[in-house]
Amino acid sequence: MRKPIIAGNWKLHKTASEAVELVKALQRQAGPVDDAEIIVAPVFTALATVAAALEGSSIRLAAQNCYPEKTGAFTGEVSPFLLKDIGCSHVIIGHSERRQIFKEEDAFINRKLKAVLAEGLSPILCIGETLEEREAGRMFEVLSVQTKIGLDEIAASDMEKVVIAYEPVWAIGTGKTATNEQAQEAHAFIRGLLRETFGADISEKVRILYGGSVKPDNVDGLMAQPDVDGALVGGASLKAEDFGRIISFRRP
Ligand code: PGA
Repeated sequence: MRKPIIAGNWKLHKTASEAVELVKALQRQAGPVDDAEIIVAPVFTALATVAAALEGSSIRLAAQNCYPEKTGAFTGEVSPFLLKDIGCSHVIIGHSERRQIFKEEDAFINRKLKAVLAEGLSPILCIGETLEEREAGRMFEVLSVQTKIGLDEIAASDMEKVVIAYEPVWAIGTGKTATNEQAQEAHAFIRGLLRETFGADISEKVRILYGGSVKPDNVDGLMAQPDVDGALVGGASLKAEDFGRIISFRRP
């Protein structure tokens, strides 16, 4: 059985004190949760204060990005080494906003993924097709390339730490969620790719999250799909009430 993960990607929102308020409100709203892993991903400048606020809590902390070197002359960058130092357990890698706005490519994302694993942290590798790619019938090809290059040279023994997030670009921040069937189709395909590369055992263990306009009113249907192991939530994770409801999704 794969333990579900519900992760909130706060993107470029919230000051450090607002982020602490949000996480406290979330703790009040959701109460103790033991049947899912809960992760929040604030901006870099709020990570340390949120880490302190989360002490003793089971909510885990993720960064939204990193640079694939440990230390050195890389002005403006933050490494997995430093993220671990302040208490992060996860790092989001290859989010579509990084791919699109910052032109990050699969090989660079693969370097980040390796750097995250080298620190013993868990990467959350985001993949997903654009609307144009889906309409051109290229969804499976795109998912295959992003998965294969993203996970290139990753040891099977490290795969239990890796989380994958399927986030169709056309569903992110648009209010247009993939249907339950579309999500399941993509997730089953991704799990099949993992099976080919790493074997059946490992493919059954890797958590594959769905992301893209997950809301309180669609989370239950998505989570009922056999290959949907959780959610990566943007907009709705900024409201404690909504995120709290998403965390307490109802299992079928
Ligand atoms: P959204 O964002 O939930 O606001 O669509 C999801 C994401 O970008 O991870």
